[in-house]
Amino acid sequence: MTDALLRIEDLTVTYGGRSLLGLRRSGVDAVKAATLTIGAGETLGLVGESGSGKSSIANALLGLVPASAGRMMFNNTDLAALRDGYPPEVRRQIQAVFQDPYSSLNPSMTVEQIVTEPLKIHTGLDPAARRDRAEDLLRLVGLAPTHLGRYPNEFSGGQRQRIAIAAALALQPKLIVLDEPVSALDVSTQNQIINLLYERRDATGMSYLLIAHDLALVHHISDRIAVMYLGHIVEEGPADRVYHAPAHPYTRALLDAVPLLDPARQRARRAARRSAPVSDLPRAATGGCPYRNRCPLAMPRCRAETPPVLPVAGGGTARCFLAESDIAAHPARPEGVTAP
Ligand SMILES: Nc1ncnc2c1ncn2[C@@H]1O[C@H](COP(=O)(O)OP(=O)(O)O)[C@@H](O)[C@H]1O
Ligand SMILES: [Mg+2]
Repeated sequence: MTDALLRIEDLTVTYGGRSLLGLRRSGVDAVKAATLTIGAGETLGLVGESGSGKSSIANALLGLVPASAGRMMFNNTDLAALRDGYPPEVRRQIQAVFQDPYSSLNPSMTVEQIVTEPLKIHTGLDPAARRDRAEDLLRLVGLAPTHLGRYPNEFSGGQRQRIAIAAALALQPKLIVLDEPVSALDVSTQNQIINLLYERRDATGMSYLLIAHDLALVHHISDRIAVMYLGHIVEEGPADRVYHAPAHPYTRALLDAVPLLDPARQRARRAARRSAPVSDLPRAATGGCPYRNRCPLAMPRCRAETPPVLPVAGGGTARCFLAESDIAAHPARPEGVTAP
């Protein structure tokens, strides 16, 4: 791996844990001791179903919610320790694009105002230079400079996301946090935006934290992939290894959710699913492995002990007792096995 640009260590994000009127309330940990690294020029894909804590990591990184424990080392600065907001040079270097381009763009601002706002705040460029730069930025994201005078509601969802990306690129950041940037778009537009992100990253050498719930969609653009389940990073590793040889049963389940093109394989999978004694409720089991209630491979040990972070052949780690053995040797959904 290249030099780490960002190293998140044991990050915990807790909601509702503040004491109110002297009464202590224990909060809910949306992120539990998460550890992640992003190298310079690298893309880390962060996947997991809704509610697993992905946005909480993104928002902690952006300084929008406080970290209740852990460190976020960005260029030798611990962002978790900056309680009074980030200094301008950090805000310049970390930009964000959110899921919903309808609500993240101010409807009363023109495209020119949206794209030049960061330049106005962070650079000494005069209005003419800012306009030139805005024209360049629109071209970079595949929009015509003639669109500068228009308002967000005049654009499609994909075009609005291009505008949001142009604004994020304006200050040439080192890292862009992309929180489900294509989830609200149709499939062909999703691919266009992913390709645009790919091309911009390769041209600039910046890094992405790319959040998605669809592992198949982000695996091409990601160097590494981390998988979250109920606040825990359950697996992490090189994108190809995680995608082609997932070590954690939850990663396999995420991949199984993607429809297969081969009808025979799809039928076999459906049959296996029907026989699987798995609860679909994403509730944390108390004690032991958080996934054991839904896991088709759960063993008595998974109830008694919390799996440690174990190395996986081919790179990365997984929090599963089976990670060290070859998971492919285990049938995905063994018949007659009941989860504890
Ligand atoms: N501001 C908040 N206050 C209280 N709970 C929250 C807040 N934001 C998120 N949560 C809870 O934290 C958990 C993780 O949410 P989130 O980080 O948004 O997950 P994801 O982005 O993976 O869908 C969920 O249980 C969610 O309900
Ligand atoms: Mg989210």
